[in-house]
Amino acid sequence: MVDCSRVRTTHPTPREQSMLARGWSSAAGRAPLSAATMAAKFSSQALWNSSRRMKRRFVIPRKGHWSYKPCSSAFDSNGCRNGGITSSDIVEREYADLNLKDLYGAGQIGRVRIRQHVNPLGSSFSVPGEVPDWDDVFNNSKLPLMVDIGSGSGRLLIWLAKRFPESRNYLGLEIRHKLIQRCQFWAKEICLRNIHFLSCNATISFERLVSSYPGPLVFVTILCPDPHFKKRHHKRRVLQKPLVDSILNNLITEGQVLLQSDVLQVAMDMRDQFDLRIDVLKHIDAIDDSFSCDEDGWLQYNPIGIRTEREIHAEFEGAKIYRRLYQKI
Ligand SMILES: C[S@@+](CC[C@H](N)C(=O)[O-])C[C@H]1O[C@@H](n2cnc3c(N)ncnc32)[C@H](O)[C@@H]1O
Repeated sequence: MVDCSRVRTTHPTPREQSMLARGWSSAAGRAPLSAATMAAKFSSQALWNSSRRMKRRFVIPRKGHWSYKPCSSAFDSNGCRNGGITSSDIVEREYADLNLKDLYGAGQIGRVRIRQHVNPLGSSFSVPGEVPDWDDVFNNSKLPLMVDIGSGSGRLLIWLAKRFPESRNYLGLEIRHKLIQRCQFWAKEICLRNIHFLSCNATISFERLVSSYPGPLVFVTILCPDPHFKKRHHKRRVLQKPLVDSILNNLITEGQVLLQSDVLQVAMDMRDQFDLRIDVLKHIDAIDDSFSCDEDGWLQYNPIGIRTEREIHAEFEGAKIYRRLYQKI
């Protein structure tokens, strides 16, 4: 059953504030819903959608008349967000040393309006991405490579590339072209020569791109991929069997794969696909006892050292992040 106390809310509107003052009755002023109906409303999908809207105002689900209660950590006693802080503020704070916000002023590109959903099965995404000249895009194209599949805003990779300039190259694959444009803009502004972003459908482009890279593939991440909740849309999920096979074929021995999601069903789907390959993989806790898992086998800590943007938004809402870290044997 879904924990309703996790439900996220952004700053309430005046109307909602007055309802809060009246004791959290239902949003439409009707009788509160039963516990069972509440649980259904707060399915994973409702939670995921609601946190996607979090940068907007306090949103009541379109047809909903549900009652809701604020996450205690996010609200003060007046029903206001703690210090007016939003998860976007936390993203800026965690990535403050990149100073990307200041770069927004350098052009309109920082303020891109981005489509929320892209259908990777659309005809425009059915062709694999062009292989770049690796010597052109990286200073040293023989360095070990990390690939982030569905790199989103790209902040995570930029942060890593800046922190470890000599040891690895970083490649972000992202289907939304405008995000890639901004990532490339940022990487160029920071003068990073060990990072590259490609606009492509990673599901069908990974093999061609990575198999042409001159150095070893050492780390692949799939972090909070789009969930595509409906069963008939599962085929739109980025991780499909050919991609699993391609990752494992290209990864070097002792190379690692990190999977994570704030949606349990998505995390389980990814886990099941990699667990099937115990012929070539081990979960990290079986190799290194400094990594611990909870009783369900999910890694207890973020092993990267910084959270992705989606991870920050989800944790702000009180969601749990489900992680698995595999190593090739
Ligand atoms: C929920 S976001 C997560 C972004 C980032 N990994 C994070 O954790 O903040 C998922 C990202 O995957 C991208 N994506 C979805 N399907 C993709 C595909 N087939 N190939 C490449 N990127 C994809 C989406 O455009 C989106 O930016």
